[in-house]
Amino acid sequence: MSKKWLTVLGLAIIVTMVAVLAAGCGSDTASTQINVGGNFEMTGGVATFGQSSANGANLAFKQINAAGGVLGKQINFVIADNKSEPAESTNAMTKLISEDKVVAILGAVASSNTLAASQVSEDSKIPFITPTSTNPKVTFDNGKVKPYAFRSCFIDPFQGTVMANFASRTLKAKTAAIYIDNSSDYSKGLAEFFEKAFVANGGTIVSKEAFLQKDQDFKATLTKIKATNPDVIYVPGYYQEVGLIVKQARALDITVPMMGGDGWDSPKLVEIAGAAALNNGYFSNHYSPEDKDAKVQKFVADYKAEYGQVPDALAALGYDAALMLVDAIKRANSDDPQKITDALAQTKDLAVVTGTLTLNDRHDPVKSAVVIEMKDGKQVFKEKVNP
Ligand code: PHE
Repeated sequence: MSKKWLTVLGLAIIVTMVAVLAAGCGSDTASTQINVGGNFEMTGGVATFGQSSANGANLAFKQINAAGGVLGKQINFVIADNKSEPAESTNAMTKLISEDKVVAILGAVASSNTLAASQVSEDSKIPFITPTSTNPKVTFDNGKVKPYAFRSCFIDPFQGTVMANFASRTLKAKTAAIYIDNSSDYSKGLAEFFEKAFVANGGTIVSKEAFLQKDQDFKATLTKIKATNPDVIYVPGYYQEVGLIVKQARALDITVPMMGGDGWDSPKLVEIAGAAALNNGYFSNHYSPEDKDAKVQKFVADYKAEYGQVPDALAALGYDAALMLVDAIKRANSDDPQKITDALAQTKDLAVVTGTLTLNDRHDPVKSAVVIEMKDGKQVFKEKVNP
């Protein structure tokens, strides 16, 4: 080859290399990071829920990134605030998918917010994992599984049964009143499942009343409930309203056990109701930070070091949902949303903080629950119930 041709060849190689490098730079973010969305209740009526879940997920991604990421890429976790409202949750989902180009989404927390956003995920074929939404319809509706919907928590038919059995067997209750949050799909579902199980145990529902989110004064209804003389009162709501209900019930000299579900789990509950009013209060939850299990204790220690507080169940479930997603990306060996979706459906024997995740054909894990007793403002672990 002549000198001239060698020079031309050399130049051609340099031009090609520059082009390759430039192309590499252009798609830099695509090649070195994976965008994951978080649709969370960062403000509004159930803000402690969204903040805890986002913190839990953040911690998991931080640890995974520090250990080299997944498929050699770093997770870029982008959070959108759904303001604790269903319509805003739909907006948040749309923004994450169309603007932030996420390959998967964690969230939302409250079932109504997740239900509202799930259509967006289905239309765009981007999978989501709700860490915490327990209403059955989130993943399975009209006799069909929703292909892009997954969760890392148990569902309400189980949670409702756990508390009905606790009322019948442990508290020896024969009668119950149910006080429902009519603005929440979660609350309406949980009330229905509790009733079914309590009646199957031989119990009677002596009164059924309803309230709405943002209500402040529950005294008239509580007075009506008191007149029916129930052995226990079941309030499957969220901490904001539940806090006021428990406080006002005790002020009306209602001394019977007050019971609820995971929606009671917030540091704000004690602030709103007061520690004394919450005594003789019980609720079902996903985990207890007092669990001696090594995975639980490591998570509690890591979370405390990061955020300076004890993680609630929402934080643990947010952490677990992040692990579930990363496990699926690894098994898919791809960050393509459809491949991640297919891998998520195959989730099996994945050891996480709140148990071991194996999804059934409705995309729901089958997991144990715990019953928590409120004692002088502290959550005390009462019992663990297996499905
Ligand atoms: N299970 C609740 C719902 O579906 C959300 C929640 C989970 C709240 C865990 C507190 C703790 O709306």
